[in-house]
Amino acid sequence: MPLPRRIVLVGPMGAGKSTIGRQLARELGYHFLDSDRVIEERCGADIPWIFDVEGEAGFRQRESAILKELSETGASVLATGGGAVMKEDNHQWLKQDAVVVYLKASLEQQFERTRKDRNRPLLQNDDPEAVLRKLFELRDPIYSRLADIVMLTDRKSPRLVVRQIINRLNPRTPRQRRKVRKEDRNHA
Ligand code: S3P
Repeated sequence: MPLPRRIVLVGPMGAGKSTIGRQLARELGYHFLDSDRVIEERCGADIPWIFDVEGEAGFRQRESAILKELSETGASVLATGGGAVMKEDNHQWLKQDAVVVYLKASLEQQFERTRKDRNRPLLQNDDPEAVLRKLFELRDPIYSRLADIVMLTDRKSPRLVVRQIINRLNPRTPRQRRKVRKEDRNHA
């Protein structure tokens, strides 16, 4: 099976999209793109500033425009922001010539990995755990529906997740193919 032109990573904050995406791109010889970083470069400001000045709505507009633009890029791995799937219109840009991989993490893992972070405006409040839970309830069905591959990341090193994604994209041995079929059945 030839590799897709684009691999698009979706999933909640703290699932490891950027770390895993960068390593996956390196392994495949693809460009690595991170939609949040591209938004920041274009805007000349960081995400908290954009939320502050333009509100979440302003950020979402910028996000949609960037996702559309990045859907035209060559061989690339794209890490998206956790809320990128919330606009129905974005789905076409996410799926264009892409295999969409949902990096799924438990709430504990999401919380652990975002706990000290000050760059995620949605979590700068008294109860970030409750926010993560609410977002997960809302978004998990959408990530799952959109994804071609669901990959659990809890207690796995980025290196292992990258290997597992590559095996799913291109299973080489009969054993790997059997495993992929079994995983597909489990997530059906
Ligand atoms: C958001 C996730 C963030 C960033 C923004 C909003 C979200 O990206 O896009 O703070 O709505 O979940 P990460 O998922 O990379 O943290």
